[in-house]
Amino acid sequence: MSRTANFDAIAVPYRTLEYLTLGKKLERTRLHFLDRVRTAHRALVLGDGDGRFLAQLFAANPKLQVTAIDSSARMLDLLQQRCALFADRLQTVQVDALGYIPSPSATYDLLVSHFFLDCFTERQLNELIGHIAPALEANAQWLLSDFRIPSGRMRLPAQVLVRSLYLAFHILTGLRTTSLPHHASCLSAAGFARVDRKLYLGGILSAELWRLQNPYDGP
Ligand SMILES: C[S@@+](CC[C@H](N)C(=O)[O-])C[C@H]1O[C@@H](n2cnc3c(N)ncnc32)[C@H](O)[C@@H]1O
Repeated sequence: MSRTANFDAIAVPYRTLEYLTLGKKLERTRLHFLDRVRTAHRALVLGDGDGRFLAQLFAANPKLQVTAIDSSARMLDLLQQRCALFADRLQTVQVDALGYIPSPSATYDLLVSHFFLDCFTERQLNELIGHIAPALEANAQWLLSDFRIPSGRMRLPAQVLVRSLYLAFHILTGLRTTSLPHHASCLSAAGFARVDRKLYLGGILSAELWRLQNPYDGP
């Protein structure tokens, strides 16, 4: 039995479900640092879902070449439709990100993952980053968004929201992850340093920009 969550069934209603639960908050979080990645040349985009962010990234950056990977065929269909204007700069790969190994000639100066790292445990994230790291250029950027549990009065609402989302995704997609990984320690261990962050929704949503400081030098 496959252990990869399958987002096919919720690919089409995903946008509506998102707007119904959190309005435009996720969209704002994804787009917060768009201006800061306009000069990237080659991006690896992980689990972009229906391609809403990627279409904006292409429009903002006329030279960018993108490899977009996702395990969901339906999500990739929607992404291709939404990014049809930019098809000559887009390569899609349907694959479990945990098994994705970039080709030896591939190099990336930008990684993007919005609300994607939370599909994995920390052990899985370390594995995923270890596969991708050899393809990263010095000073590569990583643009990401994720949920977080803030301290203070928003802690309980955040815990309830995140638990409810994991339960919903477990039922709808078979996702097995049940808690947020500490992605910051995984990125730091891989040589990235966070250069900026913007919090939304009382600190429950985090837009982050990371930069590779100590490039990977092999196992
Ligand atoms: C929670 S959705 C996030 C979608 C979008 N990035 C966003 O900001 O809303 C997770 C996305 O990652 C994909 N995904 C989940 N697990 C995956 C895996 N193991 N390998 C590749 N893609 C995966 C799903 O198909 C989906 O498109």
